Amino acid sequence: MQTFSAFLKAHLAAHQLPEDLGSVVTTTVEACKNISNQVRQGALAGILGEAGTGNVQGEDQKKLDVIANNLLIEKLKTNLAVAGIASEEEETFVACHENGGYLVLFDPLDGSSNIDVNISVGTIFSILAKPQGPLSTESFLQKGNDQVASGYVLYGPQTQLVLTLKHGVFVFTLDHYNEFILTRENPQVPEQTKEFAINASNQRHWYEPVQQYISDLLAGEHGTRGKNYNMRWVASMVAEVHRILMRGGVFLYPADQRDPAKPGKLRLMYEANPLVLILQQAGGIGSNTQQNILDIQPEGLHQRVSVVLGSKEEVEKVNQLHQQ
Ligand code: AHG
Ligand code: MN
Ligand code: MN
Repeated sequence: MQTFSAFLKAHLAAHQLPEDLGSVVTTTVEACKNISNQVRQGALAGILGEAGTGNVQGEDQKKLDVIANNLLIEKLKTNLAVAGIASEEEETFVACHENGGYLVLFDPLDGSSNIDVNISVGTIFSILAKPQGPLSTESFLQKGNDQVASGYVLYGPQTQLVLTLKHGVFVFTLDHYNEFILTRENPQVPEQTKEFAINASNQRHWYEPVQQYISDLLAGEHGTRGKNYNMRWVASMVAEVHRILMRGGVFLYPADQRDPAKPGKLRLMYEANPLVLILQQAGGIGSNTQQNILDIQPEGLHQRVSVVLGSKEEVEKVNQLHQQ
């Protein structure tokens, strides 16, 4: 049984990764332990319900969105290796230490519509090296491929940390001493699957290729795909990605016909990039239907992106239908 800190020390040494990067990861994980404790307390800590505020994206904030955001920012500010922070819940980036070498981006609480009904939520984080020169929004606008680490903490029946420093994927489970213990190394996303996830209430808005793809899946063994599929929708992307990491599957939150200025609902920097990096390290892929998500040059911190991710065969099928 290896603790997270013992794992990290050995992993940094084995791959000659900087100590400072390890310390940024550790600080992020420590903040997530605090968030986990708050999530577990629920009504007992008075953390359920609406905050009564909205974020920069015009979404209502839950109390826990705000608490999780503040916990992460306060904790990360104490680490001298952190140069700046960007959060789904903050309008602009937060400058930290001038000589820090890293930028941390996060969705402090993903799936927040699930908090009040006691269904899994999570924190997603992405770590970038800070480019030379003064800190600006541009410092953060790096491709997903440039991430130096990413991960998430899932507050589910178990609190689990999933991490990549681009040398495989590691899964840790929080024990009752509040210590993350390594419980799985290098899970692999199977290339084929019979499970898909999409919010079907948006069907009338989908573009033709997505209509076609889903209708092929629904046709089952007598359709062109020749097999029966099952469907899941948690409404916490972090939980869907974890399911896909554990047993395969495909997840779609596609761009649709509602608002061409907003390609989909999910955010490139806080959700798609960190989660696709994890999946790609485990043999899965992520696409915006045109290109690999990790190849997209970001143009804004809060940019949205069309997302199709998971088992290779399905993601490639969706890509093909978009090329026809
Ligand atoms: P957040 O709670 O950070 O705003 O993210 C919610 C996201 C994602 O986790 C999930 O896949 C999706 O929104 C659910 O959207 P619907 O409510 O449209 O199902
Ligand atoms: Mn989210
Ligand atoms: Mn969120």
